[in-house]
Amino acid sequence: MYKILAKEELVPNIHLIKVSAPAVAQKVRPGQFVIITIDERGERIPLTVADWDREEGAITIVFMEVGTTTQRLALFNAGDSIYSLVGPLGIPTHIDKFGTVVCVGGCYGIAAIMPIARAMREAGNKVISVIEARSKYLLFWQEELERISDQLIVTTGDGSYAPQRWIPDQIRHMIDGGEKIDLLIAFGCTYMMKLSSETTKPFGIKTVVHLGSIMVDGTGMCGCCRVSVGGETKFACVDGPEFDGHQVDWDLLLSRQSGYQDEEIRSLQEWESQNWCRT
Ligand code: FES
Repeated sequence: MYKILAKEELVPNIHLIKVSAPAVAQKVRPGQFVIITIDERGERIPLTVADWDREEGAITIVFMEVGTTTQRLALFNAGDSIYSLVGPLGIPTHIDKFGTVVCVGGCYGIAAIMPIARAMREAGNKVISVIEARSKYLLFWQEELERISDQLIVTTGDGSYAPQRWIPDQIRHMIDGGEKIDLLIAFGCTYMMKLSSETTKPFGIKTVVHLGSIMVDGTGMCGCCRVSVGGETKFACVDGPEFDGHQVDWDLLLSRQSGYQDEEIRSLQEWESQNWCRT
């Protein structure tokens, strides 16, 4: 069992949990994830590690409520325990000196981009972090990102904070403004990463995306997380989760991601009907 040391709702529907997992905390590197199962009969879900404390033996995970498991996890509190936690999984982000690195994150991706931005800056890059949310009240970790970036740009879909534009428009705005981008790393919803990749492609800007595909075992054995990259079948859990955004078959990924939508809705409805007092 993995004890939750701290729990916080950062903004509506997005939660932080700090979990005691000494072996994972010792080895985890930027861009890696864990697979958790909340109880004996629960499904396995992949969650990116947003931070860690090797001395304390703890990792921090930031997740969004999107389905039954994440809604149930949101009800856990400090002192509760998670049934299983496997990791760190996935190939860590390639950290090197590239020049100007733009790290973009939306929703839970705001937290997930944090260790990557920090490591890129420590490697001597100029780091520009760009985060987006639908509205100002959904933004978090601005101060933290400001501290570890050379520049932080905040955008909101409704214009309630800073410019009213989504991340792909912000990238285009930066390119048009003469910003020389050597590498762009995107973390967040699939549409944002798809559109960001389409924005950078004509300019030949190397673009790395973190794919959140359906995962079961997370070790390359079940085949559930397959994605097509450059015409080749890859497994996001062991070949990724980072891939060249210009090579990803986005339409296939989007259709696979919605493959169990009906079952997910039914599962959520059944769980909510049994827990009506919360909904
Ligand atoms: Fe099973 Fe990747 S999750 S092969």
